[in-house]
Amino acid sequence: MSRQELPDKQPDRIARMFDAIAPRYDLLNHTLSLGLDRRWRLRAIRTLDAAAPGVLLDVCSGTADMALLARRLGRAGRVVGVDFAAAMLARGLRKVVAAGEAAAVALVRGDAASLPVASASVDAVTMAFGIRNVERAEDACREVARALRPGGRLVILEFGVPKVPGISRLYLWYFKYLLPRIGRGVSGHDAAYSYLPASVSAFPSPEAFCSLLRRAGFPDASAVPLSLGIVYLYVGTRVGDTGDAGAEPAAR
Ligand SMILES: C[S@@+](CC[C@H](N)C(=O)[O-])C[C@H]1O[C@@H](n2cnc3c(N)ncnc32)[C@H](O)[C@@H]1O
Repeated sequence: MSRQELPDKQPDRIARMFDAIAPRYDLLNHTLSLGLDRRWRLRAIRTLDAAAPGVLLDVCSGTADMALLARRLGRAGRVVGVDFAAAMLARGLRKVVAAGEAAAVALVRGDAASLPVASASVDAVTMAFGIRNVERAEDACREVARALRPGGRLVILEFGVPKVPGISRLYLWYFKYLLPRIGRGVSGHDAAYSYLPASVSAFPSPEAFCSLLRRAGFPDASAVPLSLGIVYLYVGTRVGDTGDAGAEPAAR
C-alpha cells in the first residue's frame, strides 16, 4: 500500500466514525465475523491470570465486551475500560449495568495515547481490535507499558491477513468487497466498513508488530495466529522499573 492510500487515523475522525456506527456495532461484529469474534475474545481473556485477578485496564474498550468477559471468567477483580468514542461507551455502560457489574467495571472517556491511570497501577491490559486505529501505535504501546505494573500482562487482539493459499483469496474477496457493502447497508455509514480492510492492510505484519512491542517495553512479545491468521493474539509481559515511584491503584 502506498503512502497515499494510508487511512486517515486522526483521533477526532476515528472517534466520530465509531460514534456513528455504535448502534449497530455489536450486531455487525457478530454477524460479519460469523460469531468468531466471541471465540477470539474468549481466547484472549483466557491468557490472563485466573489465580490472581487484579485491576484490568481495557484500552479501546468500545461496548465493553472484553471488560464483561474478563469479569465473567474471573480474570479481573475490577476493570477500567477506556475509549474516546462516547456513544460506544454509552452502549457499553448499558451492558455493564444490565450485567449487574456497575460496581466492578468503570468506563472512562480517554485516549489510548494518554491513558487516565497512574503509572504501574494496573495488573493487566487488554486491547481488542483497537491498536490498528491508533494514530501512533508505538507511543500508545509505551503508554500501556507505563500503566502496567512490572510483571503485568498485555494482551492484544488485532486483525491480520491469512497466508493460506486459496483461503486467503476467498477471505480477501469477502473482507475487501462483500464486508464493506454489508457494513455500509446495515450501519448506514459510508466509510467505516471500507476503512476496516484499509486499516488492516496498513497494519504492520505480526513480526513487525512484535518488534514494536519489544521496543515499547514487552521483550517477550509473541504473536499467535487465530482462525488461520484472520486475527492475531499478541501477548507480552511488562518488564523493569516504570520510573514512577509511589504508584496509586488505577484511575487517576
Ligand atoms: C473496533 S472497536 C473495538 C471495541 C472493543 N474492544 C471490541 O472488542 O469490540 C475499536 C474501538 O477503539 C476505540 N479507539 C480507537 N482509537 C482510540 C484511541 N486512540 N483512544 C481511545 N479509543 C480508541 C474506538 O472508539 C472503538 O470503540
